[in-house]
Amino acid sequence: MRILVVGGGGREHALCWALKRDTPEATLFTAPGNPGTAALGTNLKIPASAVDGLVAAAAEQRIDLVVVGPEAPLAAGLADRLRAAGRSVFGPTQAAARLESSKAFAKEVMQRAGVPTAPSRTFRELDPALAYLATHAEPLVVKASGLAGGKGAVVCATRAAAQRTARAMLGEGAFGEAGREIVVEEFLAGEELSVLAVTDGERIVILPPAQDHKRLLEGDTGPNTGGMGAYCPVGLVTDALLERVRRQVLEPTLQEMAARGAPYQGVLYAGLMLAPDGTPYVLEFNCRFGDPEAEAVLPVLPRGATSQLAAIAGGGWRPDRDVIPATGAAVTTVLAARGYPEQPEVGATIQLPPDLGDDVLVFHAGTARDADGTLRVAGGRVLAVTGLAASVAAAAERSAGVAARITFEGKAYRRDIGWREVARAGTP
Ligand code: AMP
Ligand code: GLY
Repeated sequence: MRILVVGGGGREHALCWALKRDTPEATLFTAPGNPGTAALGTNLKIPASAVDGLVAAAAEQRIDLVVVGPEAPLAAGLADRLRAAGRSVFGPTQAAARLESSKAFAKEVMQRAGVPTAPSRTFRELDPALAYLATHAEPLVVKASGLAGGKGAVVCATRAAAQRTARAMLGEGAFGEAGREIVVEEFLAGEELSVLAVTDGERIVILPPAQDHKRLLEGDTGPNTGGMGAYCPVGLVTDALLERVRRQVLEPTLQEMAARGAPYQGVLYAGLMLAPDGTPYVLEFNCRFGDPEAEAVLPVLPRGATSQLAAIAGGGWRPDRDVIPATGAAVTTVLAARGYPEQPEVGATIQLPPDLGDDVLVFHAGTARDADGTLRVAGGRVLAVTGLAASVAAAAERSAGVAARITFEGKAYRRDIGWREVARAGTP
């Protein structure tokens, strides 16, 4: 089988790693890939956003299965174009990817389908937004409706802060096109959970849920980022909770999408806030694997699990289970460049010790290799270090230990990934 993975971050390295582990005979291509994926297959020099180039390359390389990592090409219609050209693709159509690419659309779908989510209003004009915010209870959340790389949701403690945010998005073009429409929603308290499920639009298999750490600094403080780390499994998760997520969130959403003529195929990622009464409220949907969730979840899937992707893409998928349990625990620590997320500094040389030990996987994200083999920082999130063990606490120790031993000028990372789980496990 010839497989093309689209994207070039830590998630795509993890996807390539899992695909190669499950199907060693497969020939892997990645576009554009990174130095990590280069060790597992062939990197094609085509950006993930170059839809025409990717369609042409898939034909030229006689690709049997395309797995699309990031949201932007899905939102641009890559899956539609590849399917029209006769390729088997894992990932939603442009119309279905709107669940992520338009938060306003996702809210409309959820309201229609009766999915638990914070009450909200959508605005395209500044004045009505300001008037609405003036009377809204505090705190509140203002979100750019379009794709904003995980940075478009702003939790505002006061109405004044919310008005400033709305003005920046609708009036001053912060977030560009993505902020031309905003969603204002009620603040929800609780604990967050990332539930990723694979689906053909009808059948659903839930992967082991993860928790990610979106804030830059330890103790979950500082600005939101694309994600500074993740862990899996999460002790809060019970069979009853997953059943509730299936019945209250995933099934009604897929049914509503099908009813709208946009059946959903691929990974449906629900970013949930678990209310104190256990209700899973949807904060957002993503139309792909999470990053860095993928770097924690894929390594704890049972061997062979990625064969589901090809089966879904090929049609006629008949899963033999509803839920895939984790085979162990994984903790992923992201090593970021100085200045991330605002203005990451690139160019520093990375020293990757050769003897990182068993049970540690180092996924490349923002790295580049010079002709002489020198590895350099080339993006905001540089490496994702996954520690594997029987417990989250032990995996966290392993991940943090290796994160400390990898060096580059300006390295920034959190030493507390998984802290909620470690605290939970320590509580009798
Ligand atoms: P989103 O991009 O919509 O997932 O939002 C990013 C982050 O903002 C989430 O992971 C939450 O930490 C926070 N957030 C978003 N919506 C809400 C909400 N309604 N209440 C509380 N926190 C929220
Ligand atoms: N880790 C959050 C995301 O992938 O959107």
